[in-house]
Amino acid sequence: MANNDWWKSSIGYIIYPESFCDSNGDGVGDLGGIIEKLDYLSALGANLLWIGPIFDSPMDDNGYDVRDFYKINPLYGTVDDLKTLLHKAHEKGIKVLLDLPINHTSDEHAWFKKALEDPSSPERGYYYFLKGKREGDRLLPPNNWAGFFSTSAWENIPGTDDFYLHLFTKKMPDVRWDNPELREKFYEIARYYLDLGADGFRIDAMAHIAKDTSWSDSALVNPNGGPVLDPSKFSNRAEMFGYLNEFNEKVFSKYACLTIGEAGGSIQPKESLKLVAHEGGPLNMVFNFDTVWNNGNFDSIDKKDEDIWTDLFQLRFNFMHWYEALHDKADMPLYWCNHDHPRVLSQYGSTAYRNESAKMLFQTLLFMYGTPFIYNGDEIGMSNANYASLDDFSFDRCAVNAIEDFKKRGYDEQTIIHYMNRTSRINARTPMQWDRSENAGFTKGKPHIKINDNYLQGVNVMDEMCDPYSILNFFQYAIGLRKNPIYNDAVNNGPLQWVDPNHPDVLAYLHDGATKLMVISNFRPYTVYFTFYYDIKDVLLHNYEGVILNDHVITLRPYESFLLLVR
Ligand code: GLC
Repeated sequence: MANNDWWKSSIGYIIYPESFCDSNGDGVGDLGGIIEKLDYLSALGANLLWIGPIFDSPMDDNGYDVRDFYKINPLYGTVDDLKTLLHKAHEKGIKVLLDLPINHTSDEHAWFKKALEDPSSPERGYYYFLKGKREGDRLLPPNNWAGFFSTSAWENIPGTDDFYLHLFTKKMPDVRWDNPELREKFYEIARYYLDLGADGFRIDAMAHIAKDTSWSDSALVNPNGGPVLDPSKFSNRAEMFGYLNEFNEKVFSKYACLTIGEAGGSIQPKESLKLVAHEGGPLNMVFNFDTVWNNGNFDSIDKKDEDIWTDLFQLRFNFMHWYEALHDKADMPLYWCNHDHPRVLSQYGSTAYRNESAKMLFQTLLFMYGTPFIYNGDEIGMSNANYASLDDFSFDRCAVNAIEDFKKRGYDEQTIIHYMNRTSRINARTPMQWDRSENAGFTKGKPHIKINDNYLQGVNVMDEMCDPYSILNFFQYAIGLRKNPIYNDAVNNGPLQWVDPNHPDVLAYLHDGATKLMVISNFRPYTVYFTFYYDIKDVLLHNYEGVILNDHVITLRPYESFLLLVR
């Protein structure tokens, strides 16, 4: 492993700053809170942080709407706090990635304000302004595109026929990467933070920075009527690759940094190689979304809970599809969940088997090919929020828009609440549960969003630290094993293959090199059987007591999972 491949033996940890730890009692997490918890993160074994966006923002999209890239969000602290954080993290051998939204700014950004004020200003050319279409006395948007947050992708500027493009909230106008001057602005921003000591970036919404500038209507039809979401119009388009090559040439290549792009819009592994191949890729890795919703939960308002079922065939296909295309040519991150998804414990695991399923899911991910990322709170088995009212979801514009849309389509309130509790990204954004004191030790003030009550039932860091069989202690021990150079080498160099790939309930894989590492995981809340023809040399990790093995048939209890050394 070359020195510049340090992330191949790193354990990532995703911090959602708003809800991680509040050091000043204003009810919102902050940089001081992250600094306080560096010892905790280090003891856990995390050594690569991705911290959600911390720049000045009106918080219409929780910080992804940046008002000033050169100022730290006062809710989170100051640039000196960031410097302290970077310094202290580095002292502990922890690298820090900042989250850099490059597809849009806030409408309160000085560029956008100038663009509105003065249509002849250079800033006007930083955004997409188009004339709407006149139909009689009606003014329609320039085309039928919808954005990602359940609205048209266009917003009219009152009193004019002009519209601007926004793929996310209407307070987040998209910027024009086809404008070289705009690109330079982002290069400067990136250099500023790298010079300050950041170790790189998670590049937000990167997949969408090039658009189909013919602006033609999408041929897709929205079955519910209205604008249609058609990522082919603005995701992973040819020009995006060129922009990122230039970004690398002018910035990333000049620093020893790590870059991980967010590659939504269904990027294919082969295509992603153009971005991340060791030979010539402008970035180091991309986060794909393929292993996140493999239970039919996405867009599932018409489904019953019983229909939500982890599809191991799909999961296997998605992992292997990426592994096969990338493993000898590129690196990749692994994750089950981030701040945009429901909690993985509620998604692929079970609150009825919190301890077993949280451990099983982590173990399954940790030893796959790639750099694993833990989402904050997964290490203590945090689960979905379970809110009682639609107002509880008002904290997220994406949820608010979706709720409005469902109401328009005639869904009743209870159905919407139930669906949001199952799928909303708010589920992952409730405060981190540190102990059983008031507000789970997250804040001494009034939390900005409701805390999950289960912190009183042991789902908190302090209680788990004291329990030798806790999820937290399992994570810590498992991470230690994953970092063992022998196992790390087996994970990185495989070759990786499925064991019994037709099993409907068990996901099992083998790194079949000199050290043979095998993971066997039951994804079901009931007992299943698994036949396997290897000799067990050692049980390295296991989330139950005792092994039930009869003549090569293992009995796997609910969510039982093994990490084995075999021959
Ligand atoms: C990314 C972020 C998400 C945000 C969106 C717009 O997908 O992860 O939270 O809403 O981009 O910036």
